[in-house]
Amino acid sequence: AIGPVTDLHILNSFIQPDGFNRSGVLAEGVFPGPLIKGNKGDNFQINVINELTNGTMLKTTSIHWHGLFQKSTNWADGAFVTQCPIASGNSFLYNFNVPDQAGTFWYHSHLSTQYCDGLRGALVIYDPEDPYASLYDVDDESTVITLADWCALCSFVYSSMIYPSPQADATLINGLGRSESGPADAPLAVINVIQGKRYRFRLVAISCDPNYIFSIDGHSFTARTFLLLVDIKVHEDIIQVIEADGVNHAQVAADSIQIFAGQRYSFVLNATQNVDNYWVRALPNVPTMSNFSGGKNSAILRYQGAPDAEPTSDSTAHNQLQETSLVPLDLNPLPPAETYPDVDLEFIFGFSGGKFTINGTTFVPPTVPVLLQILSGAKSATDLLPKGSVFGLDLNKTVQVTFNAAAVAAIGGPHPFHLHGHTFDVIRSAGSSSDNYINPPRRDVVSTGGATDNVTIRFRTDNPGPWFLHCHIDWHLEAGFAIVFAEDVGDVPTADPVPDAWNDLCPIYNKLT
Ligand code: C2O
Repeated sequence: AIGPVTDLHILNSFIQPDGFNRSGVLAEGVFPGPLIKGNKGDNFQINVINELTNGTMLKTTSIHWHGLFQKSTNWADGAFVTQCPIASGNSFLYNFNVPDQAGTFWYHSHLSTQYCDGLRGALVIYDPEDPYASLYDVDDESTVITLADWCALCSFVYSSMIYPSPQADATLINGLGRSESGPADAPLAVINVIQGKRYRFRLVAISCDPNYIFSIDGHSFTARTFLLLVDIKVHEDIIQVIEADGVNHAQVAADSIQIFAGQRYSFVLNATQNVDNYWVRALPNVPTMSNFSGGKNSAILRYQGAPDAEPTSDSTAHNQLQETSLVPLDLNPLPPAETYPDVDLEFIFGFSGGKFTINGTTFVPPTVPVLLQILSGAKSATDLLPKGSVFGLDLNKTVQVTFNAAAVAAIGGPHPFHLHGHTFDVIRSAGSSSDNYINPPRRDVVSTGGATDNVTIRFRTDNPGPWFLHCHIDWHLEAGFAIVFAEDVGDVPTADPVPDAWNDLCPIYNKLT
Protein backbone atom coordinates (compact mmCIF):
# COMPACT_ATOMS: atom_id res chain seq x y z
CA ALA A 1 0.00 0.00 0.00
CA ILE A 2 1.07 3.58 -0.54
CA GLY A 3 0.36 6.65 1.56
CA PRO A 4 -1.42 9.91 0.85
CA VAL A 5 1.71 11.69 -0.43
CA THR A 6 3.04 9.72 -3.34
CA ASP A 7 3.99 9.51 -6.98
CA LEU A 8 1.75 7.34 -9.10
CA HIS A 9 3.34 6.22 -12.37
CA ILE A 10 0.92 5.28 -15.13
CA LEU A 11 2.47 2.95 -17.64
CA ASN A 12 1.85 0.27 -20.22
CA SER A 13 3.08 -3.16 -19.32
CA PHE A 14 2.11 -6.74 -19.95
CA ILE A 15 0.28 -8.73 -17.32
CA GLN A 16 -1.39 -12.15 -17.24
CA PRO A 17 -3.92 -12.02 -14.42
CA ASP A 18 -5.91 -14.91 -15.91
CA GLY A 19 -3.05 -16.64 -17.70
CA PHE A 20 -3.29 -14.66 -20.93
CA ASN A 21 -0.60 -12.10 -21.56
CA ARG A 22 -1.94 -8.71 -22.61
CA SER A 23 -0.91 -5.09 -22.42
CA GLY A 24 -2.60 -2.93 -19.82
CA VAL A 25 -2.79 0.68 -18.72
CA LEU A 26 -1.54 0.28 -15.17
CA ALA A 27 -0.78 2.30 -12.07
CA GLU A 28 2.77 1.34 -11.04
CA GLY A 29 2.62 -1.54 -13.52
CA VAL A 30 0.26 -3.69 -11.45
CA PHE A 31 -3.38 -4.74 -11.48
CA PRO A 32 -5.27 -3.62 -9.58
CA GLY A 33 -3.30 -0.45 -8.92
CA PRO A 34 -1.60 -0.19 -5.53
CA LEU A 35 -3.89 0.29 -2.55
CA ILE A 36 -3.82 3.95 -1.51
CA LYS A 37 -4.30 4.46 2.23
CA GLY A 38 -4.76 7.55 4.32
CA ASN A 39 -6.45 8.81 7.45
CA LYS A 40 -9.45 11.04 7.85
CA GLY A 41 -8.10 14.58 7.94
CA ASP A 42 -5.11 13.85 5.69
CA ASN A 43 -3.92 16.06 2.89
CA PHE A 44 -3.46 13.91 -0.21
CA GLN A 45 -0.80 14.83 -2.72
CA ILE A 46 -0.82 12.29 -5.47
CA ASN A 47 1.48 13.14 -8.32
CA VAL A 48 0.23 11.27 -11.38
CA ILE A 49 3.08 10.73 -13.83
CA ASN A 50 1.93 9.73 -17.29
CA GLU A 51 4.47 7.35 -18.86
CA LEU A 52 2.06 5.77 -21.34
CA THR A 53 3.68 4.82 -24.63
CA ASN A 54 1.34 2.33 -26.32
CA GLY A 55 -0.13 4.21 -29.26
CA THR A 56 -2.80 1.58 -29.90
CA MET A 57 -4.41 2.55 -26.59
CA LEU A 58 -5.14 5.99 -25.16
CA LYS A 59 -1.95 7.74 -24.15
CA THR A 60 -3.52 10.57 -22.17
CA THR A 61 -5.05 10.01 -18.76
CA SER A 62 -6.79 11.57 -15.76
CA ILE A 63 -7.73 10.00 -12.45
CA HIS A 64 -10.92 10.26 -10.41
CA TRP A 65 -10.92 9.59 -6.66
CA HIS A 66 -14.26 7.89 -6.52
CA GLY A 67 -16.46 8.93 -3.59
CA LEU A 68 -14.32 11.76 -2.22
CA PHE A 69 -16.22 15.04 -2.03
CA GLN A 70 -13.39 17.30 -3.25
CA LYS A 71 -14.95 20.25 -1.48
CA SER A 72 -13.17 23.38 -2.78
CA THR A 73 -10.99 21.19 -4.97
CA ASN A 74 -13.48 20.41 -7.73
CA TRP A 75 -10.53 20.79 -10.13
CA ALA A 76 -8.99 17.62 -8.60
CA ASP A 77 -12.05 15.44 -9.30
CA GLY A 78 -10.38 13.92 -12.34
CA ALA A 79 -13.15 13.70 -14.94
CA PHE A 80 -13.02 15.57 -18.25
CA VAL A 81 -15.83 17.71 -16.82
CA THR A 82 -13.26 19.24 -14.47
CA GLN A 83 -9.87 18.99 -16.17
CA CYS A 84 -8.01 18.54 -19.43
CA PRO A 85 -6.25 15.18 -19.75
CA ILE A 86 -2.62 14.68 -18.68
CA ALA A 87 -0.53 14.17 -21.80
CA SER A 88 2.01 11.38 -22.11
CA GLY A 89 5.33 12.59 -20.67
CA ASN A 90 3.59 15.02 -18.29
CA SER A 91 2.55 14.83 -14.68
CA PHE A 92 -0.16 16.44 -12.58
CA LEU A 93 -0.41 16.83 -8.82
CA TYR A 94 -3.81 16.02 -7.32
CA ASN A 95 -3.68 17.92 -4.04
CA PHE A 96 -6.82 17.62 -1.94
CA ASN A 97 -8.01 17.22 1.64
CA VAL A 98 -10.27 14.57 3.10
CA PRO A 99 -11.57 16.37 6.20
CA ASP A 100 -14.80 14.54 6.89
CA GLN A 101 -14.86 11.16 5.18
CA ALA A 102 -13.63 7.69 6.12
CA GLY A 103 -14.31 4.29 4.61
CA THR A 104 -13.79 2.45 1.39
CA PHE A 105 -13.24 4.28 -1.88
CA TRP A 106 -11.38 3.68 -5.11
CA TYR A 107 -9.60 5.46 -7.91
CA HIS A 108 -9.79 5.01 -11.64
CA SER A 109 -9.05 6.63 -14.95
CA HIS A 110 -11.98 8.79 -16.00
CA LEU A 111 -10.98 9.07 -19.62
CA SER A 112 -12.94 7.08 -22.17
CA THR A 113 -12.99 3.42 -21.11
CA GLN A 114 -9.36 3.45 -20.03
CA TYR A 115 -9.95 1.99 -16.58
CA CYS A 116 -11.20 -1.21 -18.20
CA ASP A 117 -7.63 -1.66 -19.46
CA GLY A 118 -6.41 -1.74 -15.88
CA LEU A 119 -6.15 1.75 -14.38
CA ARG A 120 -8.24 1.13 -11.25
CA GLY A 121 -7.46 0.41 -7.61
CA ALA A 122 -8.79 0.71 -4.07
CA LEU A 123 -8.42 3.71 -1.76
CA VAL A 124 -9.12 3.38 1.96
CA ILE A 125 -9.52 6.22 4.43
CA TYR A 126 -9.07 5.05 8.02
CA ASP A 127 -10.59 6.91 10.92
CA PRO A 128 -8.24 6.68 13.92
CA GLU A 129 -11.08 8.04 16.04
CA ASP A 130 -13.84 5.95 14.52
CA PRO A 131 -16.81 6.54 16.87
CA TYR A 132 -18.23 3.15 15.88
CA ALA A 133 -15.08 1.05 16.28
CA SER A 134 -16.39 -0.58 19.44
CA LEU A 135 -19.50 -1.68 17.56
CA TYR A 136 -17.44 -3.66 15.08
CA ASP A 137 -14.76 -4.72 17.54
CA VAL A 138 -12.57 -6.27 14.87
CA ASP A 139 -9.07 -7.68 15.28
CA ASP A 140 -7.98 -6.70 11.79
CA GLU A 141 -9.26 -4.31 9.15
CA SER A 142 -6.54 -4.49 6.57
CA THR A 143 -8.22 -6.81 4.04
CA VAL A 144 -9.49 -5.30 0.81
CA ILE A 145 -11.22 -7.44 -1.82
CA THR A 146 -11.50 -5.96 -5.31
CA LEU A 147 -13.85 -7.43 -7.91
CA ALA A 148 -13.03 -6.70 -11.53
CA ASP A 149 -14.04 -7.81 -14.98
CA TRP A 150 -11.25 -8.55 -17.41
CA CYS A 151 -11.10 -9.32 -21.08
CA ALA A 152 -7.87 -11.01 -22.06
CA LEU A 153 -8.41 -10.70 -25.77
CA CYS A 154 -9.87 -7.19 -25.84
CA SER A 155 -6.83 -5.03 -25.37
CA PHE A 156 -7.31 -2.97 -28.48
CA VAL A 157 -11.05 -2.80 -28.22
CA TYR A 158 -11.20 -1.61 -24.65
CA SER A 159 -9.78 1.83 -25.28
CA SER A 160 -11.68 2.40 -28.50
CA MET A 161 -15.28 1.88 -27.54
CA ILE A 162 -17.58 0.10 -29.90
CA TYR A 163 -21.16 -0.89 -29.30
CA PRO A 164 -22.21 -3.52 -28.35
CA SER A 165 -19.83 -3.53 -25.41
CA PRO A 166 -16.89 -5.89 -25.32
CA GLN A 167 -17.68 -8.80 -23.08
CA ALA A 168 -15.50 -9.75 -20.14
CA ASP A 169 -14.23 -13.32 -19.99
CA ALA A 170 -12.81 -13.42 -16.47
CA THR A 171 -13.64 -12.21 -12.99
CA LEU A 172 -10.51 -11.06 -11.19
CA ILE A 173 -10.60 -11.07 -7.40
CA ASN A 174 -7.67 -9.05 -6.09
CA GLY A 175 -6.24 -9.15 -9.58
CA LEU A 176 -6.32 -12.90 -10.18
CA GLY A 177 -8.83 -15.22 -11.78
CA ARG A 178 -9.61 -17.89 -14.37
CA SER A 179 -11.19 -17.10 -17.69
CA GLU A 180 -13.66 -19.14 -19.67
CA SER A 181 -11.01 -20.34 -22.11
CA GLY A 182 -7.74 -19.78 -20.27
CA PRO A 183 -5.48 -22.05 -18.25
CA ALA A 184 -7.41 -24.07 -15.66
CA ASP A 185 -4.57 -23.70 -13.16
CA ALA A 186 -4.19 -19.91 -13.30
CA PRO A 187 -3.47 -18.83 -9.72
CA LEU A 188 -6.33 -17.54 -7.57
CA ALA A 189 -6.21 -14.91 -4.86
CA VAL A 190 -5.88 -16.24 -1.31
CA ILE A 191 -7.36 -14.31 1.62
CA ASN A 192 -5.81 -15.44 4.90
CA VAL A 193 -7.59 -15.52 8.25
CA ILE A 194 -6.90 -16.95 11.69
CA GLN A 195 -9.56 -19.01 13.41
CA GLY A 196 -11.31 -17.15 16.22
CA LYS A 197 -10.55 -13.67 14.94
CA ARG A 198 -12.93 -10.98 13.66
CA TYR A 199 -12.17 -9.15 10.45
CA ARG A 200 -13.42 -6.09 8.66
CA PHE A 201 -13.33 -6.96 4.95
CA ARG A 202 -13.70 -4.15 2.43
CA LEU A 203 -15.37 -5.15 -0.82
CA VAL A 204 -14.90 -2.88 -3.84
CA ALA A 205 -16.52 -3.38 -7.25
CA ILE A 206 -13.90 -1.86 -9.54
CA SER A 207 -15.98 -3.23 -12.37
CA CYS A 208 -16.38 -1.80 -15.86
CA ASP A 209 -19.68 -3.48 -16.38
CA PRO A 210 -20.94 -6.51 -14.43
CA ASN A 211 -22.46 -6.54 -10.99
CA TYR A 212 -21.60 -9.45 -8.72
CA ILE A 213 -23.32 -11.63 -6.17
CA PHE A 214 -20.61 -12.03 -3.56
CA SER A 215 -20.50 -14.72 -0.87
CA ILE A 216 -18.07 -16.87 1.09
CA ASP A 217 -18.77 -20.58 1.46
CA GLY A 218 -19.30 -21.84 4.97
CA HIS A 219 -19.69 -18.32 6.27
CA SER A 220 -23.39 -17.92 5.87
CA PHE A 221 -25.34 -20.81 7.33
CA THR A 222 -23.43 -23.24 9.45
CA ALA A 223 -24.14 -26.78 10.54
CA ARG A 224 -24.15 -27.67 14.22
CA THR A 225 -24.35 -31.20 15.44
CA PHE A 226 -26.85 -32.07 18.12
CA LEU A 227 -26.88 -35.43 19.86
CA LEU A 228 -24.18 -36.49 17.40
CA LEU A 229 -26.88 -37.52 14.96
CA VAL A 230 -28.93 -34.64 13.69
CA ASP A 231 -27.50 -31.78 11.68
CA ILE A 232 -29.53 -28.62 11.81
CA LYS A 233 -28.79 -25.30 10.22
CA VAL A 234 -28.24 -22.42 12.58
CA HIS A 235 -27.81 -18.90 11.38
CA GLU A 236 -24.86 -17.40 13.16
CA ASP A 237 -24.70 -13.97 11.54
CA ILE A 238 -21.18 -14.63 10.48
CA ILE A 239 -21.19 -11.81 7.96
CA GLN A 240 -22.44 -8.39 8.97
CA VAL A 241 -22.46 -5.42 6.62
CA ILE A 242 -21.35 -2.17 8.29
CA GLU A 243 -20.49 0.26 5.51
CA ALA A 244 -21.83 1.23 2.12
CA ASP A 245 -19.89 3.59 -0.17
CA GLY A 246 -17.85 5.30 2.56
CA VAL A 247 -20.82 5.75 4.90
CA ASN A 248 -21.17 3.81 8.17
CA HIS A 249 -24.40 1.84 8.39
CA ALA A 250 -25.84 -0.17 11.27
CA GLN A 251 -24.81 -3.82 11.27
CA VAL A 252 -27.03 -6.00 9.13
CA ALA A 253 -26.52 -9.72 8.69
CA ALA A 254 -26.36 -11.19 5.21
CA ASP A 255 -25.10 -14.28 3.44
CA SER A 256 -24.52 -12.59 0.14
CA ILE A 257 -24.19 -9.11 -1.29
CA GLN A 258 -25.10 -7.90 -4.75
CA ILE A 259 -22.59 -5.21 -5.58
CA PHE A 260 -22.77 -2.94 -8.62
CA ALA A 261 -19.97 -1.23 -10.55
CA GLY A 262 -18.50 1.49 -8.36
CA GLN A 263 -20.11 0.38 -5.09
CA ARG A 264 -18.30 -0.62 -1.89
CA TYR A 265 -19.27 -2.48 1.26
CA SER A 266 -17.48 -3.32 4.48
CA PHE A 267 -18.55 -6.37 6.40
CA VAL A 268 -17.43 -8.05 9.56
CA LEU A 269 -16.42 -11.67 9.09
CA ASN A 270 -16.27 -13.94 12.13
CA ALA A 271 -13.68 -16.60 11.40
CA THR A 272 -15.47 -19.20 13.49
CA GLN A 273 -15.37 -22.11 11.07
CA ASN A 274 -13.11 -25.16 10.89
CA VAL A 275 -9.52 -24.66 9.80
CA ASP A 276 -9.94 -25.24 6.08
CA ASN A 277 -10.13 -23.59 2.66
CA TYR A 278 -13.41 -21.98 1.54
CA TRP A 279 -14.49 -20.60 -1.81
CA VAL A 280 -14.97 -16.87 -2.06
CA ARG A 281 -17.48 -16.34 -4.87
CA ALA A 282 -18.36 -13.41 -7.09
CA LEU A 283 -20.92 -14.30 -9.72
CA PRO A 284 -21.12 -11.70 -12.50
CA ASN A 285 -24.36 -11.00 -14.38
CA VAL A 286 -22.71 -12.18 -17.60
CA PRO A 287 -24.61 -15.10 -19.17
CA THR A 288 -21.46 -16.75 -20.53
CA MET A 289 -19.77 -16.63 -17.11
CA SER A 290 -22.51 -18.04 -14.96
CA ASN A 291 -20.78 -20.83 -13.06
CA PHE A 292 -18.01 -21.55 -10.60
CA SER A 293 -16.63 -24.67 -12.22
CA GLY A 294 -12.88 -25.04 -12.00
CA GLY A 295 -12.48 -22.06 -9.71
CA LYS A 296 -13.95 -19.49 -12.08
CA ASN A 297 -15.36 -16.30 -10.51
CA SER A 298 -13.64 -17.37 -7.30
CA ALA A 299 -10.89 -16.80 -4.77
CA ILE A 300 -9.90 -18.76 -1.66
CA LEU A 301 -10.47 -17.95 2.01
CA ARG A 302 -7.77 -19.86 3.88
CA TYR A 303 -7.63 -20.40 7.62
CA GLN A 304 -4.14 -20.46 9.06
CA GLY A 305 -3.09 -24.09 9.28
CA ALA A 306 -5.18 -25.25 6.30
CA PRO A 307 -3.34 -26.96 3.44
CA ASP A 308 -2.14 -24.98 0.44
CA ALA A 309 -4.95 -26.45 -1.65
CA GLU A 310 -8.20 -25.50 -3.34
CA PRO A 311 -11.39 -25.73 -1.34
CA THR A 312 -13.69 -28.68 -1.54
CA SER A 313 -16.45 -26.71 0.15
CA ASP A 314 -19.73 -26.13 -1.57
CA SER A 315 -22.59 -24.17 -0.12
CA THR A 316 -25.25 -21.79 -1.26
CA ALA A 317 -26.01 -18.40 0.17
CA HIS A 318 -29.63 -17.63 0.91
CA ASN A 319 -30.06 -14.31 2.60
CA GLN A 320 -29.05 -11.53 0.19
CA LEU A 321 -28.47 -8.05 1.53
CA GLN A 322 -31.35 -5.71 0.71
CA GLU A 323 -30.43 -2.08 0.16
CA THR A 324 -33.54 -1.04 2.07
CA SER A 325 -32.20 -2.68 5.24
CA LEU A 326 -29.20 -0.35 5.33
CA VAL A 327 -29.59 2.35 7.99
CA PRO A 328 -26.91 5.06 8.34
CA LEU A 329 -25.43 5.31 11.83
CA ASP A 330 -25.06 9.04 11.60
CA LEU A 331 -28.14 10.80 10.24
CA ASN A 332 -26.41 14.14 10.27
CA PRO A 333 -27.27 16.04 8.15
CA LEU A 334 -30.81 14.79 8.54
CA PRO A 335 -32.42 13.35 5.46
CA PRO A 336 -34.82 15.79 3.85
CA ALA A 337 -38.31 15.58 5.27
CA GLU A 338 -41.14 14.38 3.15
CA THR A 339 -42.00 17.80 1.82
CA TYR A 340 -41.55 18.86 -1.74
CA PRO A 341 -37.88 19.12 -2.64
CA ASP A 342 -36.57 22.48 -3.85
CA VAL A 343 -35.62 20.89 -7.15
CA ASP A 344 -37.53 17.91 -8.49
CA LEU A 345 -36.01 16.19 -11.52
CA GLU A 346 -37.22 13.14 -13.35
CA PHE A 347 -34.83 11.36 -15.66
CA ILE A 348 -36.19 9.41 -18.59
CA PHE A 349 -33.70 7.08 -20.22
CA GLY A 350 -33.49 6.25 -23.89
CA PHE A 351 -31.25 4.26 -26.18
CA SER A 352 -30.90 4.38 -29.94
CA GLY A 353 -28.19 4.15 -32.54
CA GLY A 354 -25.68 2.88 -29.97
CA LYS A 355 -26.13 5.96 -27.75
CA PHE A 356 -27.92 6.49 -24.47
CA THR A 357 -30.04 9.55 -23.74
CA ILE A 358 -31.27 11.20 -20.56
CA ASN A 359 -34.37 13.30 -21.17
CA GLY A 360 -33.65 13.09 -24.88
CA THR A 361 -30.00 14.19 -24.83
CA THR A 362 -26.84 12.11 -25.27
CA PHE A 363 -23.90 13.44 -23.27
CA VAL A 364 -21.18 14.41 -25.74
CA PRO A 365 -18.01 15.59 -23.98
CA PRO A 366 -17.57 19.33 -24.59
CA THR A 367 -14.31 20.46 -26.22
CA VAL A 368 -13.62 22.60 -23.14
CA PRO A 369 -14.06 21.11 -19.64
CA VAL A 370 -17.13 22.52 -17.88
CA LEU A 371 -14.98 23.88 -15.05
CA LEU A 372 -12.81 25.78 -17.52
CA GLN A 373 -15.93 27.23 -19.15
CA ILE A 374 -16.95 28.51 -15.72
CA LEU A 375 -13.51 29.91 -14.94
CA SER A 376 -13.44 31.53 -18.38
CA GLY A 377 -16.47 33.61 -17.51
CA ALA A 378 -19.63 31.55 -17.98
CA LYS A 379 -21.93 33.13 -15.40
CA SER A 380 -24.80 30.72 -15.33
CA ALA A 381 -25.51 27.07 -16.07
CA THR A 382 -27.49 27.99 -19.18
CA ASP A 383 -24.24 29.22 -20.78
CA LEU A 384 -22.56 25.88 -20.26
CA LEU A 385 -21.88 23.16 -22.82
CA PRO A 386 -22.88 20.50 -23.68
CA LYS A 387 -26.37 21.95 -24.11
CA GLY A 388 -29.14 19.79 -22.70
CA SER A 389 -26.73 17.85 -20.47
CA VAL A 390 -25.90 20.52 -17.87
CA PHE A 391 -28.38 21.14 -15.06
CA GLY A 392 -27.80 24.27 -12.98
CA LEU A 393 -28.39 24.04 -9.21
CA ASP A 394 -28.38 26.80 -6.61
CA LEU A 395 -26.62 26.45 -3.27
CA ASN A 396 -28.33 24.94 -0.20
CA LYS A 397 -31.19 23.28 -2.03
CA THR A 398 -32.66 19.82 -1.64
CA VAL A 399 -32.48 18.13 -5.00
CA GLN A 400 -34.57 15.09 -5.80
CA VAL A 401 -33.80 12.89 -8.77
CA THR A 402 -36.19 10.17 -9.87
CA PHE A 403 -35.00 7.53 -12.29
CA ASN A 404 -38.16 6.63 -14.14
CA ALA A 405 -38.85 2.89 -13.94
CA ALA A 406 -40.77 2.61 -17.18
CA ALA A 407 -37.88 4.27 -19.00
CA VAL A 408 -35.39 1.87 -17.40
CA ALA A 409 -37.57 -1.03 -18.49
CA ALA A 410 -37.63 0.33 -22.03
CA ILE A 411 -33.83 0.20 -22.38
CA GLY A 412 -33.13 -2.71 -20.00
CA GLY A 413 -31.19 -2.56 -16.77
CA PRO A 414 -29.79 -2.42 -14.19
CA HIS A 415 -27.78 0.79 -14.44
CA PRO A 416 -25.63 1.83 -11.47
CA PHE A 417 -25.75 5.64 -11.27
CA HIS A 418 -22.91 7.52 -9.54
CA LEU A 419 -22.92 11.15 -8.43
CA HIS A 420 -19.62 12.97 -8.00
CA GLY A 421 -19.01 15.38 -5.12
CA HIS A 422 -21.75 13.98 -2.87
CA THR A 423 -23.40 11.10 -1.18
CA PHE A 424 -27.16 10.93 -1.54
CA ASP A 425 -30.09 9.50 0.38
CA VAL A 426 -31.77 6.60 -1.41
CA ILE A 427 -35.39 7.53 -0.74
CA ARG A 428 -36.60 4.64 -2.86
CA SER A 429 -34.48 1.65 -3.83
CA ALA A 430 -34.88 -0.50 -6.92
CA GLY A 431 -37.76 -2.91 -6.53
CA SER A 432 -39.18 -1.17 -3.47
CA SER A 433 -42.56 0.46 -3.69
CA SER A 434 -42.27 2.68 -0.64
CA ASP A 435 -40.34 5.84 0.17
CA ASN A 436 -38.08 6.22 3.19
CA TYR A 437 -37.67 9.79 4.41
CA ILE A 438 -36.68 8.80 7.95
CA ASN A 439 -33.41 6.86 7.74
CA PRO A 440 -32.70 6.07 4.08
CA PRO A 441 -29.44 4.40 3.01
CA ARG A 442 -26.77 6.93 2.12
CA ARG A 443 -24.28 6.17 -0.63
CA ASP A 444 -22.78 7.36 -3.92
CA VAL A 445 -23.78 4.67 -6.44
CA VAL A 446 -27.34 3.41 -6.71
CA SER A 447 -28.68 0.75 -9.03
CA THR A 448 -31.74 1.70 -11.04
CA GLY A 449 -32.67 -1.97 -11.01
CA GLY A 450 -34.41 -3.87 -13.72
CA ALA A 451 -37.24 -1.36 -13.37
CA THR A 452 -40.13 -2.45 -11.29
CA ASP A 453 -40.45 0.85 -9.51
CA ASN A 454 -38.92 4.30 -9.67
CA VAL A 455 -35.61 4.85 -7.90
CA THR A 456 -35.44 8.18 -6.07
CA ILE A 457 -32.45 9.91 -4.50
CA ARG A 458 -32.02 13.23 -2.71
CA PHE A 459 -28.98 15.34 -1.93
CA ARG A 460 -28.18 18.83 -0.63
CA THR A 461 -26.28 21.28 -2.78
CA ASP A 462 -23.36 22.21 -0.53
CA ASN A 463 -20.44 21.81 -2.91
CA PRO A 464 -19.94 24.44 -5.64
CA GLY A 465 -18.68 23.08 -8.93
CA PRO A 466 -19.66 20.96 -11.90
CA TRP A 467 -20.27 17.32 -10.88
CA PHE A 468 -20.88 14.32 -13.08
CA LEU A 469 -23.90 12.02 -12.62
CA HIS A 470 -23.51 8.95 -14.80
CA CYS A 471 -24.03 5.26 -15.31
CA HIS A 472 -20.93 3.49 -13.96
CA ILE A 473 -21.03 0.83 -16.63
CA ASP A 474 -18.09 2.34 -18.44
CA TRP A 475 -19.33 1.47 -21.93
CA HIS A 476 -22.57 3.27 -21.16
CA LEU A 477 -20.78 6.38 -19.94
CA GLU A 478 -18.74 6.31 -23.13
CA ALA A 479 -22.02 6.03 -25.05
CA GLY A 480 -23.26 9.26 -23.48
CA PHE A 481 -25.20 8.02 -20.41
CA ALA A 482 -24.47 11.06 -18.23
CA ILE A 483 -25.41 14.57 -17.21
CA VAL A 484 -23.58 17.30 -15.30
CA PHE A 485 -24.90 19.17 -12.27
CA ALA A 486 -23.45 22.69 -12.32
CA GLU A 487 -23.73 23.56 -8.65
CA ASP A 488 -23.61 27.20 -7.58
CA VAL A 489 -21.78 28.29 -10.75
CA GLY A 490 -21.30 31.91 -9.64
CA ASP A 491 -19.29 30.94 -6.55
CA VAL A 492 -16.99 28.42 -8.20
CA PRO A 493 -14.14 30.81 -9.14
CA THR A 494 -13.70 31.99 -5.54
CA ALA A 495 -14.72 28.76 -3.77
CA ASP A 496 -12.34 26.78 -5.88
CA PRO A 497 -9.07 28.45 -6.96
CA VAL A 498 -7.18 26.23 -9.41
CA PRO A 499 -3.41 25.70 -9.31
CA ASP A 500 -1.30 26.93 -12.25
CA ALA A 501 -0.53 23.35 -13.18
CA TRP A 502 -4.24 22.81 -13.79
CA ASN A 503 -4.29 25.68 -16.27
CA ASP A 504 -1.20 24.28 -17.96
CA LEU A 505 -3.11 21.08 -18.78
CA CYS A 506 -5.30 23.14 -21.12
CA PRO A 507 -2.85 25.32 -23.07
CA ILE A 508 -4.85 25.42 -26.28
CA TYR A 509 -8.14 26.16 -24.60
CA ASN A 510 -6.65 28.95 -22.51
CA LYS A 511 -5.34 30.70 -25.59
CA LEU A 512 -8.84 30.73 -26.95
CA THR A 513 -10.24 32.59 -23.97
CU1 C2O B 1 -16.18 6.15 -10.36
CU2 C2O B 1 -17.45 9.29 -12.57
O1 C2O B 1 -16.81 7.71 -11.51
